[in-house]
Amino acid sequence: MDITQLQKEVESFDLSSPERRIAFQKRFLRKGGVLDELFAALRTLPPELRKEQGKALNALRELAQARLTQAEAEERHLSVPSRTPVFSDPSFPLIRHEAGGRHPLSLVESRIIYLFQRIGYLLAEGPEIEDDWHNFEALNFEPDHPARDMQDTFFLRPEEGILLRTHTSTVQVRVMERSQPPIRILAPGRVYRHETVSARAHVYFHQIEGLCVDEGISAADLKATLEYFIEGFFGANTRIRWRASYFPFTEMSAEVDVGCLLCESKGCAVCKHTGWVEVLGCGMVDPAVFDACGIDAERYTGFAFGLGVERLAQLLYGIPDLRLFGQNDLRFLQSFRGYGPIA
Ligand code: PHE
Repeated sequence: MDITQLQKEVESFDLSSPERRIAFQKRFLRKGGVLDELFAALRTLPPELRKEQGKALNALRELAQARLTQAEAEERHLSVPSRTPVFSDPSFPLIRHEAGGRHPLSLVESRIIYLFQRIGYLLAEGPEIEDDWHNFEALNFEPDHPARDMQDTFFLRPEEGILLRTHTSTVQVRVMERSQPPIRILAPGRVYRHETVSARAHVYFHQIEGLCVDEGISAADLKATLEYFIEGFFGANTRIRWRASYFPFTEMSAEVDVGCLLCESKGCAVCKHTGWVEVLGCGMVDPAVFDACGIDAERYTGFAFGLGVERLAQLLYGIPDLRLFGQNDLRFLQSFRGYGPIA
């Protein structure tokens, strides 16, 4: 039987109904069909013809099978996948694997920890559910200090003073209660405050507390350490502004502002149109705190600081709205894919 003839038949066979397709299968693809007979007849051919005829028959069988698959797929509105493996086609678009990425707050936290571990700081942790002693009393807050107010603090059991910590300064107390100087620790963690959620404030955010206590620690050490940190974090030309402030647990207290990097200090919502953004509070540890924690206030001095992680992330990455950090919007999170903490 003429193969060219058969090929024409395969190509023009009407496959538009299930009955037609069964007829096609019977004629070409099943046992007892024309191709089956021709394959069987190969044996009777002389070897030099056998090879060529075999090849031609195989090609014809593949063609018949492909037409059938195509016809069935078309009826179900499907398409037949290409049989060429994609990796062998250099023009095929790159397949991107959905690798995960790190959250911008973890990136910033790692960057901060990296900078401080280089100058000898160790990590410490404390619980998010705290008591009045660690959050307020040991830190020298007067009993009627406004920060204890229900409006700022989430109390879980108000009568027992059990609350969600409002700052990571609790960890200063926990570390000093159980160890003696020299102390150099960094304590990252989540804190809670009763605020109206907006682009600038949230009911929870992240801080990193730092504490350094030893003989002869002075305000010059505090200033040098924090300037080292800010330059390491934002770069050497960052504008820094020191402002006198007040915290019950530090005496001399200060806050540090950084020139707003979102608007280049021209004024925007993040810097409240001042050109400056507050990034940390700090000061020399008040001797009353040493007394409460069992550290000799005659012998030792120290400094402490609390960094606002969201603020630092906003400035570093140019994020206008604080709420983005907690919404898990993939478009936001994926824009940090491939970022590392140290750049
Ligand atoms: N705990 C203070 C705050 O949350 C920050 C701070 C920490 C200030 C350590 C001084 C020393 O605002």
